[in-house]
Parts: sequence; structure tokens; C-alpha cells
Amino acid sequence: MGNTGNQSDKEVAVVTGGNRGLGLEVCKQLASNGITVVLTARDQKRGAEAVSILGDAVRLADFIKEKFGKLDILVNNAAISGMISEIGNSETFQQEVGGMDLTEKADRIRKHSTEPYKQAEECLRTNYHGTKAVTKALLPLLQSSSHGRIVNISSRYGLLRFFSGQELKQELNNIDNLSEHRLDELSELFLKDFKDGQLEGRGWPTEGGYIAYKVSKAIMNAYSRILAKEHPSLCINCVHPGFVQTDMSFQVGDLTVEEGARGALMMALAPKGGMTGGFLNRTEAAPFV
Ligand SMILES: NC(=O)c1ccc[n+]([C@@H]2O[C@H](COP(=O)([O-])OP(=O)(O)OC[C@H]3O[C@@H](n4cnc5c(N)ncnc54)[C@H](OP(=O)(O)O)[C@@H]3O)[C@@H](O)[C@H]2O)c1
Repeated sequence: MGNTGNQSDKEVAVVTGGNRGLGLEVCKQLASNGITVVLTARDQKRGAEAVSILGDAVRLADFIKEKFGKLDILVNNAAISGMISEIGNSETFQQEVGGMDLTEKADRIRKHSTEPYKQAEECLRTNYHGTKAVTKALLPLLQSSSHGRIVNISSRYGLLRFFSGQELKQELNNIDNLSEHRLDELSELFLKDFKDGQLEGRGWPTEGGYIAYKVSKAIMNAYSRILAKEHPSLCINCVHPGFVQTDMSFQVGDLTVEEGARGALMMALAPKGGMTGGFLNRTEAAPFV
């Protein structure tokens, strides 16, 4: 996308899950800001319609290295909800939830969904481990940029207020004592507790559902904060886009993709020396708790 001109002068961005929804919108807007965008997608057919199809994170890094020698912006956008839904036709569903507020809509999605263990595992693997794998592979290339930025698309659901257990909440908020290894352990512990029926007992965010999704985003947020601390020369932030009309929300969000992409764009295009290790609620800085 926008792959013209002198490559060395242009900024280069990678957006994961760029074939639809918010990711596609971020790709479009970055490209229209003159940035060379490498859109990554796992679905070959959909990805081919847009631009490049890249396999795993290492192959992606090799490709970027060979083609551009550096990376300026990484937008970690790809994610799943960790739920199986029976909502088939989004138009019918839109009628069903017409007039409801956001909380009621999210609740209605949940009522039509289940959260089996397999999906929880997949959710942690995609939203946390996947983000980490892509980030790790591309980090050296971001360090080759004079202004490397990582935008982790998060969610309000990743805020620590949803955890009922004080110990877990404090541990995930105490960035100075956290390590990536401990985050991996917590991810495993969550899945174990899920299997053993210990979610509530441990204080994972069970109320209101979206359990694995909330945990995956909370752990990803903590990872983002650790990384920002370790790499002060980069700008690394998390962004909640709002409740956006995409497939993930069955198109019943209150924001268009253009509106939802604003915060991510703000962080992706922020000048050097801006915020790092932070969280944006749409376009406003907000706490992780
Ligand atoms: N929509 C909202 O209201 C909302 C609210 C808060 C946060 N968010 C966050 O915003 C981001 C974008 O979500 P969206 O609403 O645009 O969702 P979406 O329409 O469901 O798109 C998700 C994207 O992630 C990709 N993806 C999923 N699993 C993947 C995997 N294992 N490997 C590679 N790519 C994968 C999908 O690719 P395929 O096409 O191959 O499935 C798709 O491109 C996510 O991080 C989400 O958590 C969304």
C-alpha cells in the first residue's frame, strides 16, 4: 500500500490484522499520511486482495529488513474475542440491539456467546503471545529507526479494574517488579485456573464475561509497559479504540472505523519525545487501572 517513491526517505509501518476492521482503516490512514504500509494478514485470500501476505513474525522481519532496512511504526492490532457466538446475521442482530446502550449491547453479545477453554487458550495465544512474537522479531528494526513507535491496540476491557483479586491486580500494575517471564507464567496460570474452575477464587475478571479477552489485554498492557521501560528510545503505548463497528462487535459499535482509528493514528504519528508506556482511552491519556 502506498509503496512508491524513495523508500529510504519514507517512514515504514507494519499493521497486523490489516485486512479488515480497525486494522484496515489504520493501514489506509497511515498510507494517506505518506507512510509505506506493510499490511499483514493471515487469511491468504483476503490479504492478497490488499497487499502483502507474510507468514510468521521472523519471515516478516526478514522481509522488512531486506526491503527497507528499518521499521518506524508497528501497530499490533490482530486479536480475537475468545468467544464463540451464535450471532449469524449482523443486520438481524443490529435490529435486536437497536436503542440499547453500549453496556447492554456488550451484554447481549455475551448472552449469544460461550467462552470455552479452547477459545480462551487461542485468545491468550493471539492477543498476548502473538503480539509479543511480532514485537520481538521487529524490535531490532524499530531500533534502527530514528523514531521507532509501537502501538498496541488494547481495550478498555484490559483495565485492571475488572480483576476482582487485589493480589493479581497489584502484581499486574507493579511494573517495576514484573518481568516478561512472570507474564508468561500468569498467562499459564490463568489457563490452568480456567481448566480447574478456579477463576473466581484467584480473582480473574469473571464478572460480565469476556474473561480471556480481558486477561489477554491486561497482560498485553503489562508487557507494553515493561517494554517501554526497557526501551526508552522507543515510544510504546496502548490504545483503546472505543466500541467500533467491526466484525468483532458484530457491527453494533457506536463508532465508525474512522473514529475508532483516531487514537491509534495519534500514537502512530506522534512526534519524537512523546508519551511512552501509556494508555489512551480513544484519544485521551488514561490509567491502566
Ligand atoms: N471492535 C471493537 O469494538 C473493539 C473494542 C476494543 C478493542 N478492539 C481491538 O481492536 C483491534 C481490532 O479489532 P477489530 O474490531 O478490527 O476486529 P476484527 O474486525 O475481528 O479484526 C481482527 C483482525 O485480527 C486478525 N486476527 C485475528 N486472529 C489472528 C491471528 N491468530 N493471526 C493473525 N491475525 C489475526 C483478523 O484476521 P482474519 O481476518 O484472518 O480473521 C482481523 O484482521 C483488536 O485488537 C481488538 O481487540 C476492538
